[in-house]
Amino acid sequence: MSDPNWWQHAVIYQVYPRSYQDNGHDGLGDLGGVTRRLPHIAALGVDAIWISPFFRSPMADMGYDVSDYCDVDPMFGTLADFDALIAEAHRLGLKIIIDQVLSHCSDQHPWFRESRSSRSNAKADWYVWADPKPDGTAPNNWLSIFGGPAWEWDGVRMQYYMHSFLTSQPDLNLHHPEVQTALLDVIRFWLDRGVDGFRLDAVNHYFHDAQLRDNPSRPPSDAHDVPETNPYGFQEHLYDKTQPENLDFLARLRGVLDAYPGRVALGEVGDGDRSPATVALYTAGDARLHCCYTFDLFGVRFDAGLIPEVFAQFGETAFAGKACWSFSNHDVVRHVSRWAQPGDDPVALAKLAIHLLVALKGPVCLYQGEELGLPEADIAFEDLRDPYGIRFWPAFKGRDGCRTPMIWEADAPYAGFSVAKPWLPVPAAHLPLAVDRQQDDPHSVLTAYRAAIALRRSHPALALGSITFLPQQGELLAFIRETAGERLLCLFNFGRKTATWEGEAARLTLPPFGFHIARG
Ligand code: BGC
Repeated sequence: MSDPNWWQHAVIYQVYPRSYQDNGHDGLGDLGGVTRRLPHIAALGVDAIWISPFFRSPMADMGYDVSDYCDVDPMFGTLADFDALIAEAHRLGLKIIIDQVLSHCSDQHPWFRESRSSRSNAKADWYVWADPKPDGTAPNNWLSIFGGPAWEWDGVRMQYYMHSFLTSQPDLNLHHPEVQTALLDVIRFWLDRGVDGFRLDAVNHYFHDAQLRDNPSRPPSDAHDVPETNPYGFQEHLYDKTQPENLDFLARLRGVLDAYPGRVALGEVGDGDRSPATVALYTAGDARLHCCYTFDLFGVRFDAGLIPEVFAQFGETAFAGKACWSFSNHDVVRHVSRWAQPGDDPVALAKLAIHLLVALKGPVCLYQGEELGLPEADIAFEDLRDPYGIRFWPAFKGRDGCRTPMIWEADAPYAGFSVAKPWLPVPAAHLPLAVDRQQDDPHSVLTAYRAAIALRRSHPALALGSITFLPQQGELLAFIRETAGERLLCLFNFGRKTATWEGEAARLTLPPFGFHIARG
């Protein structure tokens, strides 16, 4: 029997299947492709894979707009392909976490088609419908993250519906008990198919204020949930999301999961400055979510003070290991590009980053391609596919720059991703970073990833020990990871100069972006 608390020290590798491996010769990655590349993932030494959505979808938001929660989109394959993937992953000792988008779905979902057909149908209240103001304008000031108001007019119902993301992604109304039941049935469907857990998309968007009160404005903030050029960040999101009713629903969801031992719920919380408080509530006790990730490490800030400050903001949640940490995912600029300054060595930076990540207390997520040290791709406007980027370009170029194809073989057409032209370009600058160039190179980023993950697996103090930050010395971050019988000193030089750490028992000199994890 595997450890039911495996998630507490898990290293989770995120696969964005559209860009991982095309097995179907159409320039789009698919589930068969992921299965084919499982040996690469297993060789990294990770515990689990989080697969971004592969469900039936019109793909307006690349699958985060689901039109059938219980089927695989033909673009990605079939349910049989998913069964084959999970069987092979389990054979290799890898767990499978799937992405569930429960706060909204596609406007092509049969539930929404029915809901919008009249004000009296059986699903009339399954979405957030509201009358216009007397002057015809939207019911309140709520905004969509992807631009414009969070309300779209429907001429049949003569009402607006709410959408936190695209107009084609209507928000489900979880105040309605039947909606909750239908969504929990989806969760059961996938648990019965053998998944090991769920990454819950936009988990704090499940409920809205039933009175539809206006959000107040908010002063400038350091939160990284949306780019600063997005007016969504000008509001304090008191009413359009993160409502107290969610706690009861999360408890129901946890009840469903607990009937299947060892399954995990990892929530995505985008709640601006309130994210730490929200994560604390969502992970309190053993009755809601197991853990959550936020956008707190997705900024451009990269210095020795960042991690201790974020841990201080999260408090007990972080020190108890319920915050999940990551530096990159499919929504943000790749961290090597985000953090590097001109003249920096990206290889050294990538190696420092992975050793820092595995040394943090709590589960961690990696994003495909970061194990190669891939930088963000620069995509021309005419090649953009992300509707968010197309809407806000050029001030914000969207998320395509981190979604380009995985780089397998430097000399193969399209880097071995596909034999057909991929849906996003393969940047020439990525080719020398291919897996086949790095896997036998002892100095490569890929080799450093394998070593760092192996280090975490072989040291109980890194996996589950306490974390204690030591006083910062210049650009040196120092902390202790400790468990019964093992005490590790973890040191990281965020500076661009050699630095010496003066410890009680020893002095240690680290090169720029150098690190040291050892007994001490
Ligand atoms: C996902 C995004 C997606 C959005 C809407 C998220 O936070 O990570 O990729 O566009 O939810 O579903």
